[in-house]
Amino acid sequence: MSVRKICVYPDPALREPTKEIDSFDDELGMLVCDMWETMYASDGIGLAGPQVGVAKKLAVIDYNGEKYVLINPVISEKDNFKIVEEGCISFPGIYEKVESPEHIKVSYCNEKGELIEKEIDGFLACVFSHEIDHLNGKLLIDRISPLKRQFLKKKLAKKAKEK
Ligand code: CO
Repeated sequence: MSVRKICVYPDPALREPTKEIDSFDDELGMLVCDMWETMYASDGIGLAGPQVGVAKKLAVIDYNGEKYVLINPVISEKDNFKIVEEGCISFPGIYEKVESPEHIKVSYCNEKGELIEKEIDGFLACVFSHEIDHLNGKLLIDRISPLKRQFLKKKLAKKAKEK
């Protein structure tokens, strides 16, 4: 197992189109292990493939001790939108209030390749939606107002210079 390097915005890897996963083999198992390690090392509750430079439809979530491995996830319904505060490992130290669904219908495969379909309520639905957005190249910064976005871009550019 190893902790992988996190792609921080504006890393182009975060916008890379992702491919479906079709083999549920040892290689996938190892990738999933690395994703857990990397997520815990960053104190996150979710991590998607593109955030570690892997352009595949894969994400992991650990919310209140409930663990989910999402492979090829698809959301068929989103509703009950609320304003919630979200963070993202690819935007270290940034928290933004964004509109997010507190109810979703989702289908995905687990790491054994079993198809799972469920309805999720509450903040966990927001977490699922956030991670699945990553697989479609959609980021936290895309979900805030244009004015806030401009401000955040400047802030991040300044932060990058300081390093
Ligand atoms: Co994120």
